[in-house]
Amino acid sequence: MIDFHSHIIWDIDDGSKDFRMSSDMIENSICQNVQCICATPHFIIDEQEIDKTVYHEKLNALKESYSNKINILSGIEVYINPNIPKYYKEKKIWGINDSRYVLIELPMRDYPIYTKDVFYELIILGAKPIIAHPERNLKIQQNMNLLTDLLDEGALAQMNAGSLTGMFGNHVKEFAEKLIRTNRIHMIGSDGHNNRSRKTDMLSAYETVGKLNKDLYQWMEENTNKIVKDIDITPLKIVEDKEKKFNILNLFNRKK
Ligand SMILES: [Fe+2]
Repeated sequence: MIDFHSHIIWDIDDGSKDFRMSSDMIENSICQNVQCICATPHFIIDEQEIDKTVYHEKLNALKESYSNKINILSGIEVYINPNIPKYYKEKKIWGINDSRYVLIELPMRDYPIYTKDVFYELIILGAKPIIAHPERNLKIQQNMNLLTDLLDEGALAQMNAGSLTGMFGNHVKEFAEKLIRTNRIHMIGSDGHNNRSRKTDMLSAYETVGKLNKDLYQWMEENTNKIVKDIDITPLKIVEDKEKKFNILNLFNRKK
């Protein structure tokens, strides 16, 4: 199991506070059967840009401490900005394990008009953008086509484990389940920020993926390791939501 999204690097964003907390978070990942965790701190262009040297010093310290127990990989969670393609071209931002797969965060309650252009430009440059936790974005919750358009363009999507376990409420949980059932998600991340309220838990959510959609679970088992190795992947086709059909059928049967 790979955790594609975490804030385990200490004192760099709103995630881990110190080395001790980072260690706790990683120990928890190991207990959760995570074999590989991506350290993806927030990167906000012009506001909170991460010094690559400092980042790698801290990443390497964690890697060395846990070299035999878990694989810790580089990455960032870059906040949507029209200059992302420029930054990618200039190597000021980096993908998961320095691959073409770049994790991109949207605002929680907005979907900027330049989003699709940024994704398109990145794909032209050879990058593979990954939308971080789309299930938590208000505009995507209201109009799933906003997500589908990006996926059709070639983007991938990462879901937060907590969304499937109800950490962000029932509404998000139900929407998250729908995205899993319809193959609109490609990887899971803990988005762990600390060792208390937002931990690096993964196991329960990953098992839920298996219960909701066996094909997708199998696809994740076979393909997520390719992503961290920078190998090309072919996502499953988006399918209709069978659960919705089932509900309509139930309603029909109840009326008879
Ligand atoms: Fe995050």
